[in-house]
Amino acid sequence: MTDDVLVRMAGITKSYPGVAALRGVDFDLRAGEVHCLIGENGAGKSTLIRMLTGAEQPDQGVITIGGQEYTGLRPALAHRLGVSAIYQETDLVPQLTVAENVFLGHEPRGRSGALDRSAMRSEAQRVLDELGVTLPVDAPVSDLTAANAQLVQIAKALSRNCRVLIMDEPGAVLSDHELESLFEIVRSLRARGMAIVYISHRLEELMLIGDRVTVMRDGQWVQTRAVQDTSVPDIIRAMVGRELSDQYTKTTVVGDDVVLSVRGLTLHGHFEDVSFDLKRGEVLGLAGLVGAGRSELLNCIFGVVPADSGTVTLNGRPLRARTPQQAIDAGIGLVPEDRRGAGLILSRSVQENLTLPSLGKLSRGVVVRAKEVAAVCRSFIEELRIKTPSAAQPVRFLSGGNQQKVVLAKWLARGTTVLLLDEPTAGVDVGAKSEIYALMDRLASEGISILMASSELPEVLGMSDRVLVMAEGRLTCELSREEATQEVIMSHAVPTSAAIAS
Ligand SMILES: Nc1ncnc2c1ncn2[C@@H]1O[C@H](COP(=O)(O)OP(=O)(O)OP(=O)(O)O)[C@@H](O)[C@H]1O
Ligand SMILES: [Mg+2]
Repeated sequence: MTDDVLVRMAGITKSYPGVAALRGVDFDLRAGEVHCLIGENGAGKSTLIRMLTGAEQPDQGVITIGGQEYTGLRPALAHRLGVSAIYQETDLVPQLTVAENVFLGHEPRGRSGALDRSAMRSEAQRVLDELGVTLPVDAPVSDLTAANAQLVQIAKALSRNCRVLIMDEPGAVLSDHELESLFEIVRSLRARGMAIVYISHRLEELMLIGDRVTVMRDGQWVQTRAVQDTSVPDIIRAMVGRELSDQYTKTTVVGDDVVLSVRGLTLHGHFEDVSFDLKRGEVLGLAGLVGAGRSELLNCIFGVVPADSGTVTLNGRPLRARTPQQAIDAGIGLVPEDRRGAGLILSRSVQENLTLPSLGKLSRGVVVRAKEVAAVCRSFIEELRIKTPSAAQPVRFLSGGNQQKVVLAKWLARGTTVLLLDEPTAGVDVGAKSEIYALMDRLASEGISILMASSELPEVLGMSDRVLVMAEGRLTCELSREEATQEVIMSHAVPTSAAIAS
């Protein structure tokens, strides 16, 4: 690591109506370092990054890039200065090919000004080779896995001669193996002198990849340290401003009666012949690698996609129509992995999102009892510590993790009997995680049954009464809380084909 400061952000301040998102933040970035940016949901990480990419301009403060001072950057200028960002929601165009996406907006052109396709293909190939990855340059991006789509975004940044690469929660959609290859690439970019900002809520990741770490809290800078001079507990303390007690709360209250019964459920190409029972008050963990078919299974139980065969029975009554509306009426709730797409109406307020599915319950005749709606809403904002200036704030303006809490609260407010949770804490900070776990535990002790798909093994182990493991669309084993360990789960999560190959 060298000491060349490439970017210096000084006294950056930014307010939105009712929110002081950044308050005099200082942040600097050296060539050849991975600088991790850490903080609770709503701390201001993404906002700070938007000032650097020129997506928005600060109210106050100065940004220095390569020795030149700027009081406000525009996206085109930031690009020219070599700043590129990769977000979790990719900004690729799914219908275009890999090569077309890499060069979108700066396509190579021949002398006549016409698009030079062969130059584009070979240049794209060169950039991918440089990254050491093999991807079909002519395939549409929609055919790629999330991990590969992310590589295309990196290739796109490199093709623009990027010097500063910002990655906002890149690990959240990746399996362990994919994350390791991403780290390899990040290390090689660092070795070439690139400055990298890495944002993640998984603190173990930053210990593996980071050189320095800056902690933010409530829109303010808290500390910047070399990773080797700090520790995960130290970072957590700086982040949340207090000591966190044990993360998992787990009381076991599983009843004898089966609430949800799934038999022979099949969706060709995704999962085959899945059968299991979920008991009253049980937390059933669904573990597996990314791509094992867990999300599809939850979606299918909820009725988002029709099954090819098999049955779902709730409290002894088969669900026949198999539509989301029927599932909701029967008392099933789904917190989907893709919260922005399926979980929320972004333009509507926190209150509307929270209470939409429960309006039926809270209305008497056609008159919605406004006071009760507001009270329910307030209690959830408090209990889950949803960071918002008011219940009337459009959800679009909430930070990623706070949006996740709204989706969760939405179903809790309705009083479901079965909750299907898909990666319930993805993108959620450590403090809020414990709050979500405590809430899950309370719900289970009130008799609600929870089926939780999660890629975070500690979370599966910490919260489940029983664990199902899925690999390549099939249930490969069932483990009691006592039997379940990281090793046993992983040994059943690896696809058999891969196991034979290795
Ligand atoms: N356009 C906007 N209008 C109103 N408020 C906003 C806007 N953008 C961000 N905010 C608010 O600014 C604060 C900081 O948000 P930001 O997205 O930077 O948090 P974050 O640290 O990235 O959190 P997360 O870990 O959840 O992604 C939050 O309270 C958020 O609600
Ligand atoms: Mg963010």
